[in-house]
Amino acid sequence: MCGIVGYIGNQEAAPILLDGLTKLEYRGYDSAGLAVFDGENINIVKAKGRLQVLRELTGDGKALKGCIGIGHTRWATHGAPSVTNSHPHHNAKETIAVVHNGIIENYMKLKEKLIKKGYTFISETDTEVVAHLLDYYYNGNPVETIAKVMHRVEGSYALGIIFKDHPDKLYAVRKDSPLIVGVGEHENFIASDVPAILKYTRNVYFIENEEIVELSKKDVHFYNSDVEEIEKEMSEVKWDISAAEKSGYEHFMLKEIYEQPKALRDTISPRVKNGEIVIDELTMTEEDIKNIKKIFIVACGSAYHAGVNGKYVIEGAARIPVEVDLASEFRYRNPILEEGTLVIIISQSGETADSIAALREAKSRGIKVLGIVNVVGSTIARESDNVMYTWAGPEIAVATTKAYSTQLSALYLLAMYFGKVKGTLAKEEYSDMLKELMLLPDKVQTILGDKENIQFFANRYVGAKDVFFIGRGQDYAVSLEGSLKLKEISYIHSEAYAAGELKHGTISLIEEGTLVTAVLTNEELYKKTISNIVEVRTRGAFVLAVTNEDNILDKETADYVIYIPKTHKYFTSSLAVVPLQLFGYYVSVGRGCDVDKPRNLAKSVTVE
Ligand code: AGP
Repeated sequence: MCGIVGYIGNQEAAPILLDGLTKLEYRGYDSAGLAVFDGENINIVKAKGRLQVLRELTGDGKALKGCIGIGHTRWATHGAPSVTNSHPHHNAKETIAVVHNGIIENYMKLKEKLIKKGYTFISETDTEVVAHLLDYYYNGNPVETIAKVMHRVEGSYALGIIFKDHPDKLYAVRKDSPLIVGVGEHENFIASDVPAILKYTRNVYFIENEEIVELSKKDVHFYNSDVEEIEKEMSEVKWDISAAEKSGYEHFMLKEIYEQPKALRDTISPRVKNGEIVIDELTMTEEDIKNIKKIFIVACGSAYHAGVNGKYVIEGAARIPVEVDLASEFRYRNPILEEGTLVIIISQSGETADSIAALREAKSRGIKVLGIVNVVGSTIARESDNVMYTWAGPEIAVATTKAYSTQLSALYLLAMYFGKVKGTLAKEEYSDMLKELMLLPDKVQTILGDKENIQFFANRYVGAKDVFFIGRGQDYAVSLEGSLKLKEISYIHSEAYAAGELKHGTISLIEEGTLVTAVLTNEELYKKTISNIVEVRTRGAFVLAVTNEDNILDKETADYVIYIPKTHKYFTSSLAVVPLQLFGYYVSVGRGCDVDKPRNLAKSVTVE
């Protein structure tokens, strides 16, 4: 996600902003920019690509004079990576500059209103809407102005703002995106994360939602959304830089597992308006959707596993036949792609070579391609006919977690939308699914609260040699992901099997003490999977079961049980995967593996 740094004090601001942004590079970004007030004007310099480009443009910041400024590294969500779309954004008169981290969900509606009032826009971003909204409401009092804007915008934001006619002040406000205040000696800072300011101070204020901050070089004032001044406690940061980059988590992977509730909210909420699913990015008409005769979902690794899951949901809700293919197979097997076929390419990075090749193979046959992608402006995003972004934010750990989870949610949204358009999804079922979909982030949060239980169990299996994951239907699909998580970061051999398939050979591998993880969340298949559990237990397996909280399993059935909250039958994998992610993570930690950078693996496989 984006990085924000702001400075006000007696030193030149630009070098300090660049230094702070450098400490936030780990968050992932595609462009950067600075705005510094030199006493006369707010001077803005922006650049696409790495921070080094901005350093070169500004002579390491020396060319930008002034002691108050804001800086930003952008992770594109609305609008591809470009100089125009990078932050800071400003109003037409360039008397207000703003940097933003988050997603303004109602930015299109606000943009239309501002255009009607004569405002013109130069970028595709939601942030530029904030710059013009600040201009529109500006009454000479920045705190009052910010409060008015807060009441109009919906979504998540952390904002750093400077006003030309308040040259001795820096402003900030946040809602659902992190922002802190750093307190120095005759200088003060804002930053989206602690690493940016640790070099200068360990004294910080953690800004709460909808608190407005006014900073001068000598003091800091806080206001609530009613513009009433409030008192806050200052904290002292004890972390070192490395811990701070992971927000105190030991690894990026654990941080990203815990970011899943927010990632799901950011991916789902903007696409649910007034009780209806709205997928603005789809240029397909309802007629186009009704004419889809077959869907191919094509991807690699975890993205492929999401596709296997998506098959069940799309076929169940929209009754469209779905074939799921590994991209490395699809690209060479001369697939039969007839008229009325839709190809969906799923990819976190949007740069996976096999998936790009599969996309190009489909397009070379005149087939429409929909991309479900996390990196805005990536190759797959740019070459797809339509792209539905997952808004998981940058994923640093090689083993995907939050991106996979948001891929599932994107497939749920698509399946429900298609089902609604085709009339194959009854109104009642649709609204029940929608209610459950909106509750998913909180239910994931509930499971995360039980990590000690999973950690305790994982510690007993750091010495395992072979681990099996079994399930039926979507429980099999999520077992594929659980197995990959374990093996790719702990280097323990693992296999996922359709539970009904074990007896056709693989069950010969089950020995005394072999760990078998059985996922059983599909109520209609409980009994079937339990009979498979009995099969492996009678051959000596130790069974860890992951099941719904109302499906109590006794010691005769499973040796250890992890219960997950109930949800709609199509969404259970979004909950079942969390204990499996944590299991793989804690086994890997227990084995002393390099969790975030496992051997032999890359975050994006950009070669064949
Ligand atoms: C998953 O943990 C792996 N990192 C890997 O399987 C990954 O999902 C696969 O390489 C696909 O990457 P993509 O989503 O960026 O295309």
